[in-house]
Amino acid sequence: MCGIVGYCGYRPASVVLLEGLKRLEYRGYDSAGICVGTGNKFELLKKRGKIRELNELVGKRTLGDFGIGHTRWATHGEANDRNAHPHTSASGDVVLVHNGIIENYAELKKEFESSGQIFQSETDTEVIAFMIEDAYKGNLENAVREVLPLLKGTYGIAVIHKNEPGKIVGARNGSPLVLGIGEHEMFLASDVTAILAYTKDAVYLNDGELVSITKDGYRTFDINDTIIQKQVEQISWELEQIEKRGFKHFMQKEIHEQVESISRAFQGRLNKESATGHLGGLNMLPNELLGVRRVIIMAAGTSYHAGMIGAYLIEKLARIPASAELSSEIRYKNPVVEHDSLYFVVSQSGETADTLQAMREIQRKGGKVLGLCNVVGSTIARESDGGVYLHSGPEIAVASTKAFTSQLAVLYVLALSLARMRHLSIEDGLKIINALEVLPEKISSILKQTAHIEALAEKYHRYENFLFLGRGMNYPVAMEGALKLKEISYIHAEGYSAAEIKHGPIALINENTPSFFLVPDDLLRDKVITNMKEVKARKGKLIAVAVEGDLEIAGIADDVIYIPHTEEIMYPFLMVLPTQLFAYYCAIKLGRDVDQPRNLAKSVTVE
Ligand code: G6P
Repeated sequence: MCGIVGYCGYRPASVVLLEGLKRLEYRGYDSAGICVGTGNKFELLKKRGKIRELNELVGKRTLGDFGIGHTRWATHGEANDRNAHPHTSASGDVVLVHNGIIENYAELKKEFESSGQIFQSETDTEVIAFMIEDAYKGNLENAVREVLPLLKGTYGIAVIHKNEPGKIVGARNGSPLVLGIGEHEMFLASDVTAILAYTKDAVYLNDGELVSITKDGYRTFDINDTIIQKQVEQISWELEQIEKRGFKHFMQKEIHEQVESISRAFQGRLNKESATGHLGGLNMLPNELLGVRRVIIMAAGTSYHAGMIGAYLIEKLARIPASAELSSEIRYKNPVVEHDSLYFVVSQSGETADTLQAMREIQRKGGKVLGLCNVVGSTIARESDGGVYLHSGPEIAVASTKAFTSQLAVLYVLALSLARMRHLSIEDGLKIINALEVLPEKISSILKQTAHIEALAEKYHRYENFLFLGRGMNYPVAMEGALKLKEISYIHAEGYSAAEIKHGPIALINENTPSFFLVPDDLLRDKVITNMKEVKARKGKLIAVAVEGDLEIAGIADDVIYIPHTEEIMYPFLMVLPTQLFAYYCAIKLGRDVDQPRNLAKSVTVE
């Protein structure tokens, strides 16, 4: 989604802004721009397309000592130069960047249009610059404060004014904004990755808060101009974590990082002596956890698939009814919230609007919502009633991989804790802990088969439709495999329970629709084999992920990827790896922009 960077300091502003925008590229965008000021001379440069095109506009010049920059993911008005941010007021004195959506922009615009003023863009943003200019009486903070109550919707904004060179005013309502503190330089950003190269001291703004920065200081305040004392927090990520480090793509790097990221998710959270898990961040006493009668996990996209697996496991191990819900849907179905239900939101970014709003809806009804997030200091992490960080390190590729397996790892620890409070024996608890601990080794061994999976991608990447099929806990993995393939290669793929194909999808099977079967050596293996045979009988090509030693599968499928044996409930961790690699290599073969697939954004901060 859209990204914001702001800078006041001693370095050339254009360099800092362009570098910051480059770091925000991963969020997904379709145009970019900067406005830099040298004294009260502003230069505005914006362009449809990638940062490299904006870079070309700037050329070799280093411009300005302060300024604001933006990457835009089009919502109102197509992706073109005119609609790109920053936007200016009628006279050009006010320049502004905005993330979020102003719902009443049409109404607001009308007032200006009726007095003959002309807008340059179709955006919902430009009108804010007009309004600030109108309200300006010599003090930018005051003008911004006056305008904000008139806006309906969500925003993170950064504004500059020609009469106040060297100053940026930022405000937040629903779209993240963080202040970075340096020595004689200050930063504003929608995401810490934009400023990590310069500082690790950050102040996260809350909704309803404003900030004003100059190179030597900052002031945080609210709409009534009351000063708000904010805590300076340390950004825990390292710069090297947001670099490719020899890999061709972030996605490739992140797939390979799963060997370590997965253990970071359960490190210090498993107790062998009592054969249980411990998640301190939940802020719940054992007797409160024991009183839980229902678990609901809310999430979107890949996180929803992790949530489905988590719900399955909680019900299976802890015998607590559990389900996963799409956050976009639960929010509007007037959900029944009961005092003994426990809600979880799962979100890599901690900013997904659908998930955030679902959380708020449950909280409004008095429910307790715990968060599983990767991004420290994110809105969901701060607004949830307790929660756990994934510690998977920054995930930069739009398509989520390592966050998914870390989400699973945390959900497994959670299921184990809930189960050990109820019916699960020490022996069975220990088995789960042991199986979790050897996962990194097993993941490593699957990663050694990259060349084989790449060869399969070479063989299959020209097919236009795929089915991904699995059962039980591997059914959501099939959905995730299909999602990954469509996200980055744009090949149409559907994820189904293998049992369901006879109820519809089998109609699609012919020699042009390959099926990707997930076949662990579990209770349902033979039934899945029957489904494979049904596909084969209709001339469908078969790729199978099966367990080492299962030679029968090699006799049925056209191609097999073997994974190591593990405990039945652990297969989702291993099954997903080949699907990630297969999607990655298909996308490469098709020449796709793997890390920034078309139309997608890393964190979707609009509904
Ligand atoms: C977007 C991303 C997906 C992600 C989903 C949920 O759609 O493109 O990759 O799975 O949001 O994101 P979250 O940050 O809440 O896990």
